[in-house]
Amino acid sequence: MFDRFNRKINYLRISVTDRCNLRCVYCMPEEGVQLLSHQDILTFDEIVEVAKAAVRKGVDKIRITGGEPLVRKGIVDLVEMIGKIDGIKDYSMTTNAILLDKYAEDLAKAGLQRVNISLDTLDPDAFRKITRGGDIQKVFDGIEAAKKAGLGPIKINCVIKETNQEPNAVEVAKYCEENNLEVRFIKEMDLETGSFSIVQGGSGGNCAKCNRIRLTANGNIKPCLFSDISYNVRELGYERAIDLAIGNKPQSGHTNITGKFYNIGG
Ligand code: 5AD
Ligand code: SF4
Repeated sequence: MFDRFNRKINYLRISVTDRCNLRCVYCMPEEGVQLLSHQDILTFDEIVEVAKAAVRKGVDKIRITGGEPLVRKGIVDLVEMIGKIDGIKDYSMTTNAILLDKYAEDLAKAGLQRVNISLDTLDPDAFRKITRGGDIQKVFDGIEAAKKAGLGPIKINCVIKETNQEPNAVEVAKYCEENNLEVRFIKEMDLETGSFSIVQGGSGGNCAKCNRIRLTANGNIKPCLFSDISYNVRELGYERAIDLAIGNKPQSGHTNITGKFYNIGG
């Protein structure tokens, strides 16, 4: 489907949970957040119905996100259910990789094609600080497991403050080069003030070329990360919520005061 600005919308990002096993400083407050209640979270069957409706309307690229998608119970089954939908050409997941060592092989068997992994530094102490307690070794193990399982090309998401010449970013770039990983630098964003920019090495943040819609864990279809507009699939039905989101996708985003990265999936 095309939107009002003649952008072809073919990419659906599905946030399967607002929970996360890390607390990155730029994403979540230390004490955690008010989480969605169980009955508000879409079931696997509902998520699959949204994905099917989106594919009927021209979506051929799907990414599973969170929070951290691998903390959702039964995630491999959900990945398999979505993977069976005819017409998906690009099927990926964004993960912090803490649990990837455990799941990579099963995810690949379930039909997932590739993963993007968040990694902002190579230094274990800096990693522990940024993520408020994360063990970087788990991420390295996860990357190895993803390679072994064939979940490539593997992309590394590296959040930077200002430039990719910052020491952490330079280290991550070198590591990626040596390990055959693609690096993407994402400048730290602030949804509330509307500060966002184009992702270096990726496709995000470029409004003129934006091809995305998002599904949140509680069933809101969001046409733009930097906008509060959303259409709930339980209230409106799958098809109508998608039609409304695409039909009302803003030309360019401004601010989002109701959403956060952990519940929209970045
Ligand atoms: N700015 C930029 N990227 C962010 N992410 C989370 N919060 C922010 C933010 N404030 C990114 C993570 C991860 C993806 C899920 O979203 O680094 O790569
Ligand atoms: Fe979790 Fe990702 Fe947010 Fe970090 S950025 S707290 S890993 S959802």
